[in-house]
Formats: sequence, C-alpha cells, structure tokens
Amino acid sequence: MRVLVAGGAGYIGSVVTAALVEAGHEVTVLDDLSTGHADAVSEGARFVQTSLQESAPVLAEVRPEAVLHFAAKSLVGESQVEPELYWEHNVGGSLALLEAMRAVDCRRIVFSSTAATYGEPEQVPIREDAPTKPTNTYGATKLAVDAMLTSYATAYDFAAVSLRYFNVAGAAYGLGERHTTETHLIPIALQVAAGQREAMTVYGEDYPTPDGTCIRDYIHVQDLSDAHLLALDAPRPGEHRIYNLGNGTGFSVQQVVDAVREVTGHPVPVEVGQRRAGDPAQLVAASDRIRADLGWTPRHTDLAGIVRDAWETAQRRA
Ligand code: UFG
Repeated sequence: MRVLVAGGAGYIGSVVTAALVEAGHEVTVLDDLSTGHADAVSEGARFVQTSLQESAPVLAEVRPEAVLHFAAKSLVGESQVEPELYWEHNVGGSLALLEAMRAVDCRRIVFSSTAATYGEPEQVPIREDAPTKPTNTYGATKLAVDAMLTSYATAYDFAAVSLRYFNVAGAAYGLGERHTTETHLIPIALQVAAGQREAMTVYGEDYPTPDGTCIRDYIHVQDLSDAHLLALDAPRPGEHRIYNLGNGTGFSVQQVVDAVREVTGHPVPVEVGQRRAGDPAQLVAASDRIRADLGWTPRHTDLAGIVRDAWETAQRRA
C-alpha cells in the first residue's frame, strides 16, 4: 500500500515506519523534525521535512492510500504551561492533515491517541467505554482529534482507528526513545544506570498502591507497531474505531527501578520527591477489544525484556 507516515522521525513513528517498509509498503515520511531525528527514518522510506499545516502539496504528490498519524507534541507538563502549542500543533495540525487527505480522496487513517484522554480512571483496568475526562491539555487535544475523526467518518466516510497508547517503552529496529527533554521513567532510570545522571526522583511513594508508587502499563514498542499494521486494514468506510493498547499488567515505579538495576547491573540512586501534578495512581489498559477484533496479541510483555531492549539500544547509540 502507498502510505504516508506523519511524525515518522519520532520514537514510535520511526519504529512503525521500519515495520511498514519491512512489510513491503511504499512509505513516505513527513516530519518537521521539531522533536524527531532525520536519521531515525528508515532507509527504505522517502523523507519530506515539513509540518502538518504545510502537508497538502506532499499528499497531492504522493496520493497515499492510507495515513498513519504520529505527529504531535506530547509533554504533559509543557501542555499545561504552553497550551497554545498543543491546540495549534495537535488539533490545528490534525485538521490540516485531514483536509489534505480529503482533497486527494484518501480516507484511511490510523491515529496515535493516548490513555491521557481518560484522565483519572474510575475503574482499572480501563476500557474504551470509560468516561473521557482528561486532566491535562495534552490529553484534551488528543481527545479533540478523536472527536474530529468520528465526524470525518460520519460525514466523509473516513475509515479511522484511534489507538490509545498506555506507557510505550523498549526499542525495535535499533530505534529507541531519544527525546531532547526526557520526562519518561524508563529512559531516565537508564540514564542514571549509564552514569549520565547522578540520581533520579521517584515522584511520590504515598499512593494507594502496594508499594506506594504509581502503577503504569508498559507496552513494548514492537507490540504497539504490530497493532498499527493490523489497524491499517481494519475499519470500513464510515467507521471510527477506538482501541486501548497496553499489556493489561501494571508495574509500579519501584518495580521499574528494580528491573533497571537488575538488567543493567548498575546502581540507580533514587530520591523520593513530591507527587507530580496530574499523575493518577494507576493506569492499566483493558485491551480485550483489539485482541478480539484484530487478533492482536502482545509478545513482549516481560518488564525486564522491555527494559533490556531499551538499554541495549541506548548503549549501542552511546
Ligand atoms: N516517574 C518518576 N520519576 C521520573 C519520571 C517518572 O517517578 O523521573 C513516574 C511518574 O510519576 C509516573 C511513572 O513514573 O508515575 C510513569 O511516568 P512517565 O512520565 O514515564 O509516563 P506517564 O505515565 O506520565 O505518561 C504516559 C505517556 C504520556 C501519557 C500518559 C497518560 O508517556 O504521553 O502516559 O496516558 F499522557
């Protein structure tokens, strides 16, 4: 299939690009490199550096049969202090992309949504029919794009899938997390193990969880990538499907730090700090819907394995 990957120079987009190329698709990557890296784009894909707002000429030339849309700002903290960036890039950018698709009669799209659309969950594991009450601007902008996709499916016969990621981690095809501003737990703990940071802070150990630290559902980026390839063919015109993507198993911050110590064999000095604003105690996905509908099965559910893949890829890069 001729596919366009928006945001294909970022962590998840670059892994899915590599998988699409491997599966024989003809891939064009579009990325403004605001947070991505040109060298992360698979050699088998064509790369065009541009923003979503300026994407129409690229779509007119490529005439994609489907779009995978990863391009977004995704720092929760930043979204609270500079919300205009999130409304402009995530919502304005997505609208421009959908209009560019409509102009070339491309109506098939897989969109990167997030667990942050649910906010503080009333029930765990979280199902797709749970209330969506985002507690930050990042989650609100992703939820707005989900609503946009429902409208486009209804009005314009788009065939759309929103994949709501929980905590994506690990590495595949030699591609791992490489953020200029790193806020995520596993890469930070690995940087401490590698001696690139002296210590790390655990944000709160007074949560109502067995060891007092927050619980999250870590999904291997390879499993996430598999889900995108399945989702590409799934929806019929006029349908917008929403699927949660997680392992269904939660690990605490303390368990993650212990796994990093075990896998790397290095000490990871930890300070216990205040809670981080907006962090729910527990976020774990119910992913039964995508398993039942698309036959998706995560294959890399072991926490140590996820940490090992991230560690080995980061070490090779260093
Ligand atoms: N944490 C620490 N110390 C750190 C970094 C993180 O204790 O230095 C803790 C956090 O408080 C949280 C857990 O580790 O309890 C995981 O934090 P991450 O920042 O790695 O991930 P989040 O769960 O906050 O965020 C993820 C995605 C977001 C998404 C969010 C909700 O990365 O994009 O889930 O779905 F918005």
